[in-house]
Amino acid sequence: MPNPIKRHTALQPISREHHHGLLLSWKIREGLNRDIKPARIKKFTDWFWENHLQQHFEFEEKYIFPILGEDNKMVKRAIKEHRRLKRFFTSSDRIAINLSLIEEELVAHIRFEERELFNFIQEVADKDQLALIELTHQKIPNPEAWEDEFWVKHKH
Ligand SMILES: [Fe+2]
Ligand SMILES: [Fe+2]
Repeated sequence: MPNPIKRHTALQPISREHHHGLLLSWKIREGLNRDIKPARIKKFTDWFWENHLQQHFEFEEKYIFPILGEDNKMVKRAIKEHRRLKRFFTSSDRIAINLSLIEEELVAHIRFEERELFNFIQEVADKDQLALIELTHQKIPNPEAWEDEFWVKHKH
């Protein structure tokens, strides 16, 4: 992530999760480039969705986006992207296509939040709102714990 220095401390844990999201996309890309079976990659993305990303989206929608309100253009875009990504993660057909879509659109979504949405939110949020985010954020299980590291060169 290029700008963690400028990120408000209350939002730093969320930015760290974004870093894990970028890693997920990288791992999918590695897997696809190495001809790992899509079903094997999907086991990992299913786990990542259920144990990490779903909570991340819920947290943003419940505690971060309301600072700008549901009529805000950037919030609308972010929520729309959450819905698309959810569909790609949870769909059980066209697995290879959905993996490619996740890989591409998750990166774009995270860049949008980090470069635009979060910068704006930390500008307009008041102290109490930021304190509430800090207080409420629950630690999400470390996504590095998945055992089948298909993205590591010597493991297939
Ligand atoms: Fe998001
Ligand atoms: Fe996010």
